[in-house]
Amino acid sequence: MRVLTADHPLIAHKLTYLRKKDTDSPTFRRLADELVTLLAYEATREVRTVPFDIDTPVSATSGVKLSSPKPLVVPILRAGLGMLDGMVRLLPTAEVGFLGMLRNEETLEAVTYANRLPDDLSGRQCYVLDPMLATGGTLAMSIRYLVERGADDITAVTLIAAPEGIEALRSQIEDLDVPVTLVTGAVDERLNEHGFIVPGLGDAGDRLYG
Ligand code: PRP
Repeated sequence: MRVLTADHPLIAHKLTYLRKKDTDSPTFRRLADELVTLLAYEATREVRTVPFDIDTPVSATSGVKLSSPKPLVVPILRAGLGMLDGMVRLLPTAEVGFLGMLRNEETLEAVTYANRLPDDLSGRQCYVLDPMLATGGTLAMSIRYLVERGADDITAVTLIAAPEGIEALRSQIEDLDVPVTLVTGAVDERLNEHGFIVPGLGDAGDRLYG
């Protein structure tokens, strides 16, 4: 698994305000949206394209367009929904599938409670959206699920991630035979004894949706 941590002053600035505990919900949502668009630029660096010949008003030229099948964007409910608009702004023709995952706060195990994805993901590039990678369980389960359905290239986009979670994710998907990339706005200090990211930003789902 490749890990790309954003290194950009605008991302650092917006993340700082996102983390602040007195940032209200509307501002939190706006910042999450803006951050995703910035991260999406990095996350789509290897989106597949095919040659495409066009005429400009001046001459004929060769360009590129997104190849088919179109990429699939998968926000993990519920907090990942706060990242959807920012991602599809950059990939307006992408298809969107939904995966509902919940972390049991006692066992910290992720369980699936909703699933609305195309049956066959053969040959699809998938972009999984979830603001936080804490223990890594949610993303590991989501990625394995997409690969079982045929996805052959996966990029997970998170706003923040815990180092322990990144390592756990790496080991839980190392047997998979598809390239996986993690693009994150920041790698935080650690995970605390309750499975929360430190310094983190609290519970992204609650801060987005109450
Ligand atoms: C949070 C977060 C991730 C998950 C990360 O979701 O949005 O999905 O926890 O934890 P993990 O890396 O330890 O699996 P939560 O379960 O709070 O659900 P919500 O998005 O519906 O609020």
